[in-house]
Amino acid sequence: MSELNLILLGPPGAGKGTQAARLREDFGLPYIGTGDLLREHKQSETELGLAAKSYMDNGDLVPDDLVIAMILDKVEEEGQDGFLLDGFPRTIGQSEALARELEGMGRRLTAALLIEAPDEVVIARLSGRRVCSAGHVYHVEDDPPKHEGVCDQDGKPLTRRKDDEPETIRKRLATYHAQTEPLKDYYEERGLLRRFDGTRDVTEVHDHIRATLATLRLEERL
Ligand code: AP5
Repeated sequence: MSELNLILLGPPGAGKGTQAARLREDFGLPYIGTGDLLREHKQSETELGLAAKSYMDNGDLVPDDLVIAMILDKVEEEGQDGFLLDGFPRTIGQSEALARELEGMGRRLTAALLIEAPDEVVIARLSGRRVCSAGHVYHVEDDPPKHEGVCDQDGKPLTRRKDDEPETIRKRLATYHAQTEPLKDYYEERGLLRRFDGTRDVTEVHDHIRATLATLRLEERL
């Protein structure tokens, strides 16, 4: 079967993490979530985590040199037979570094999956998002846990991410528009961009992505 080398693009709160959890199960792909990895480093107070902390808490991007090395090492270690990258690349510099790395391995990207949602939807979603320390995601109104403040899956307490405060959400959106949106054109020009309407129901978005990936796989075999 042909390998799937996928990246998830989109504004904060578009549903990248939510869809990634489903796609991992569907395709058994190694998942590399940049935000999760950086939060683990922050939590364990590694050198990288300490360097990344202030950027993340302010809603800024962590500098390319720190992120590129961390993610490309992971791709080499875990992504030999395919991967699902969530939150990387986020700058043109990161896109070019990924393209060079794959070329060096004699591989190429299968698709850039762009989940789109307008700013007002993102703000409503992230203001109500709650997460447990294992990364399971809820929404206080749209997808509440069975018992308030407790994760259904592992019983851990649910908290609000530090960068989900209203001011920081606005900053993250501005960062996305300025630094990550240009990647749409970058991948469109290379024929790799696939767009999905992130305002649709979670299952509808998932079905649409799965159908698109099934078509891409068929085309690769022709
Ligand atoms: P990261 O953790 O990657 O955050 P993000 O991209 O801002 O994305 P989010 O996790 O906030 O949103 P999501 O799209 O995954 O939405 P979710 O599925 O949770 O990055 C955090 C920080 O790390 C960055 O700000 C930066 O500082 C740093 N960083 C990361 N990558 C970097 C890089 N490459 N370079 C430099 N720095 C980097 O859904 C959100 C909510 O909506 C949930 O409550 C969910 O239940 C709900 N929801 C989801 N889908 C739907 C739907 N279809 N309908 C209704 N509700 C929905």
